[in-house]
Amino acid sequence: MLPDSAYTQLAGMPICRLVNGMWQLSGAHGSIDPQRALANMQDYHASGFVTWDLADHYGPAELLIGRFRQSGVPDGRLRAFTKWVPRPGPMPRRAVEAAIDRSRERMATDTLDMLQFHWWDYTDDRYLDALRHMVTLVQEGKIAHLGLTNFDTEHVRIITQAGIPVVSNQVQYSLVDMRPAAQMAPYCQSQSIGLLTYGTLCGGLLTDRYLNQPEPGPAALNTASLHKYKTMIDAWGGWALFQELLTTLRSIADRHAVTIANVATRAILDQPAVSAVIIGARLGLSDNREENARVFSFALTEEDHARIRAVQSRSRDLMALIGDCGDEYRRR
Ligand SMILES: NC(=O)c1ccc[n+]([C@@H]2O[C@H](COP(=O)([O-])OP(=O)(O)OC[C@H]3O[C@@H](n4cnc5c(N)ncnc54)[C@H](OP(=O)(O)O)[C@@H]3O)[C@@H](O)[C@H]2O)c1
Repeated sequence: MLPDSAYTQLAGMPICRLVNGMWQLSGAHGSIDPQRALANMQDYHASGFVTWDLADHYGPAELLIGRFRQSGVPDGRLRAFTKWVPRPGPMPRRAVEAAIDRSRERMATDTLDMLQFHWWDYTDDRYLDALRHMVTLVQEGKIAHLGLTNFDTEHVRIITQAGIPVVSNQVQYSLVDMRPAAQMAPYCQSQSIGLLTYGTLCGGLLTDRYLNQPEPGPAALNTASLHKYKTMIDAWGGWALFQELLTTLRSIADRHAVTIANVATRAILDQPAVSAVIIGARLGLSDNREENARVFSFALTEEDHARIRAVQSRSRDLMALIGDCGDEYRRR
């Protein structure tokens, strides 16, 4: 179903440039039936969507990856990237190893394909202790690759300058939230660190579903993801400007015979340093694979990009308002 251009290498690992996001299994996006979810995972994999993003705290996600693997995945293409999101505090080796062992057991694998590390508080620099222990666990074969999530540019630099080899950083990146373009992407590109992006469809808001629609109130935003990104749209410039963005994207989509979601995804896949876009999958509840596969069927022109920039230029500066990538998760 997917062409060769749908795949890339991340630190030598073959991955799909559309990664299936599993936060949508956490319970805050509708009730998931594990059997149906598992069957849907098989559909995703069979159609070439072979790369998964999850976390230790995304409900049953790690266990489902484990069951999926044990069900006999038909080829060697499955890659599943989990996260560890510890509470800041002392980071002795035994605590780090226990967390990694738990994920290995739940995901039914000796070696985690990639462990993405999140840290809540930069004033506590014991994140470096945790990362150094993880480097040892890479050497011992329990983790294949180390990644980060929601680290800002300054701290990615501190980590790389400490000699800790990270292959990716997972950040919010969309036509609404272009903060990574300011500092993160150039730095990551200089270090061969790939960006895995989330929020690229703003939880579904950045799609044809919301074109010409009145501003949704809290009751209409029925997933945690829709709530999260509606707040971002409010900060960025509000519903009227967002409608202008959707209208522009619709007219670009018409020229290429695709959808707003396709244009919004393609535009981020085309950004420097972006390895892949993560798209949330409500497994067993909804399935947007067929439409999303069309992102590999067309190319945006310089004129398309210029039209998008013309709308974006009228938004607020989220770097000034919020700070660099991930700062929305931290007190300033
Ligand atoms: N590191 C972090 O802090 C962090 C934070 C957030 C997310 N993430 C990761 O990123 C993943 C993505 O989550 P997200 O919250 O950012 O959501 P998202 O990918 O922006 O949006 C997902 C929703 O978009 C809708 N959608 C997908 N394709 C569509 C299409 N072609 N047309 C219309 N609607 C479409 C689906 O809605 P329906 O289900 O209603 O069809 C889906 O539930 C998560 O699962 C997680 O893996 C990471």
